[in-house]
Amino acid sequence: MKAVEIKKDIFWVGAKDWNLREFHGYNTPDGSTYNSYLIMDDKVTLVDGVKAYMSSEQIARVKSVVDFAKIDYVVVNHVEQDHSGSVPEIMKLAPQAIVVTNAAGKMALEAHFDTTGWQYHIVKTGDVLNIGKRNLSFLTTPMLHWPDSMMTYVAEDKLLLPNDGFGQHLCCEALLAKDYPNDLVVKAAKSYYANILFPYGMQAEKALSSAAEMKLDIDMIAPSHGLIWSGKDEVNQILSLYDTWAKGKTVKKAVIAYDTMWGATAKLAETAMAEFQDAGIAVVKHNLGVSHISDVMTDILDAEYVLIGNPTLNNQMFPRVAAFVTYLKGLAPKGKKGLAFGSYGWRAGVVKEIKQVMDDLGWQTAEVFEEKYTPKSDILEQFAQRVRDFIKM
Ligand code: FEO
Repeated sequence: MKAVEIKKDIFWVGAKDWNLREFHGYNTPDGSTYNSYLIMDDKVTLVDGVKAYMSSEQIARVKSVVDFAKIDYVVVNHVEQDHSGSVPEIMKLAPQAIVVTNAAGKMALEAHFDTTGWQYHIVKTGDVLNIGKRNLSFLTTPMLHWPDSMMTYVAEDKLLLPNDGFGQHLCCEALLAKDYPNDLVVKAAKSYYANILFPYGMQAEKALSSAAEMKLDIDMIAPSHGLIWSGKDEVNQILSLYDTWAKGKTVKKAVIAYDTMWGATAKLAETAMAEFQDAGIAVVKHNLGVSHISDVMTDILDAEYVLIGNPTLNNQMFPRVAAFVTYLKGLAPKGKKGLAFGSYGWRAGVVKEIKQVMDDLGWQTAEVFEEKYTPKSDILEQFAQRVRDFIKM
């Protein structure tokens, strides 16, 4: 396994996880990568690790360029174990190396691993570390994705190493986004943002404005997952998409997520879909018995309208709907319009719990719509009217 040079004397030394199909509840049909970078300068610097079970791949790639005894710095941008899992093994091979991280990173490393004997260089936003011909600058970005997250910038190479930021769960032969269909990389980046960074829009906006204040000149963004954005056009594309997502901008689009037991809630979902279609508004319908909740979230990212349909089971929310609502609550999208609907046999009111979640998220919500057993045509017309009113809300 060899390193791949991405800029003069800067190498990709990560690992490709072709088999990954799930990342803490997020569906990853295209696998993922854990990207690590090796900077060969007067002070040899390794940036980020990989998952523990892929350590040998990272180690082999590093060894194809340099002996571990020559590594001076190990930058830990983020301690979640997909990036720090191999760090203990790296520190065994390079005990002389100094770990460069921020104060929260040091605390997190010590909470995860036996760090006895590790030496640290603690940085904060704006700090600069000279490694020879290059200067590394640091930008702490708490909650993008954990309290310890930070980005490393190499001014001389106009290179940003943002760890989780701008990543995608995508594994393929290519290393650079320009060598892969653009629409597929953007789709993967959107899905990644929706399922990993959605709750942290404010922090993403802050990071983008801090980067602007620091006047970072960037012509390559090399994240720790997926493909590398290279060239001004691609860099501007992903920065602009992040600006849109972080601000919670929506388009005229509806997402209907529902489940069904005997077809009643499905009939309501179809009625709602027809109303959006008639109004000329794009609409996506997800049966939660078929669609994965992470794909639903990707569609919700830029949707103005979100409708959730629930068939009551044993006087409770239907389990797959409950799982989706819990996931939604955690990812906490803002600025949506919400309508909860559903069916019941003998206990009405369960969909109010869904409306409550929407209200708690600060959404503009319509009154819930619930039908006992199977909705007949007059009920479907009442619901259609409710949806028409909702569209105009
Ligand atoms: Fe890719 Fe927050 O770890």
